[in-house]
Amino acid sequence: MHPMLNIAVRAARAAGKILIKEFDQGQPIDATSKGPNDWVSEMDRAAEKAIIDTIRKSYPEHGIIAEESGQQQGTDNDFQWVIDPLDGTTNYLRGIPHFCISIALLHKGSVQQGVVYDPVREELFTASRGAGAQLNGRRLRIDPKVELKGALLATGFPFKAKHKLPEYQQMFNNLFEHCADMRRAGAAALDLAYVAAGRFDGFFEMGLKPWDMLAGELMIREAGGIVCDLDGGHNYIQSGNITAGAPKVLKQMLPVMRK
Ligand code: IPD
Ligand code: CA
Ligand code: CA
Repeated sequence: MHPMLNIAVRAARAAGKILIKEFDQGQPIDATSKGPNDWVSEMDRAAEKAIIDTIRKSYPEHGIIAEESGQQQGTDNDFQWVIDPLDGTTNYLRGIPHFCISIALLHKGSVQQGVVYDPVREELFTASRGAGAQLNGRRLRIDPKVELKGALLATGFPFKAKHKLPEYQQMFNNLFEHCADMRRAGAAALDLAYVAAGRFDGFFEMGLKPWDMLAGELMIREAGGIVCDLDGGHNYIQSGNITAGAPKVLKQMLPVMRK
């Protein structure tokens, strides 16, 4: 394993341990609102601190962009870590066992390493640029034959920006007519990792943040899938609007969504 991926894994496992300990107690966890339907708890912050401390120990000069603490020092460094310490906060706070930690490492703006860790199922999704994607060490390869007809797609609703609903609903309706079924599981980084694992054949969501997407994006590419924005372009990190999937599925999704 690449040494920087190894540190990312160590950081994700440390955060996972903290999240699971509290989750297993089954007690309500205090949360405060960051915006409409957007919550943060002390557990998001504790997990983020564990990740940053782990990275800092090995790479004190690297830059860090973490969801809860914002841009940290090292912004001019070629290496930047992009962290979502708890993706699926709403699930977590409600005792729904579907959430993850997502950590990506960029070098000069391009994602080199990615980890998505589900501490409930102890599933570790990893990817290194040019070296493939793995789930618990087993190589992931997206089936190039799978098509939109019969596909299981995943999505996220625009619950933090409900003015986007009409545009979103149109895309949802168009796709739903052509696929087998759709899931809304509640953790975008895990949705993307599931696409890499072939559990979902495609995914789309509007208004995501870089820390939701970067690790999963690398995983999907390394597993043989495609990632783009809702128009087939490369602008998804800036716009937050993302489509991803098996190659044939994605090519068939794009025109259907914009019908
Ligand atoms: C959210 C989850 C959710 C997605 C939201 C994200 P958070 O992340 O990934 O599935 O629909 O857009 O913001 O807030 O739980 O880290
Ligand atoms: Ca997130
Ligand atoms: Ca989060």
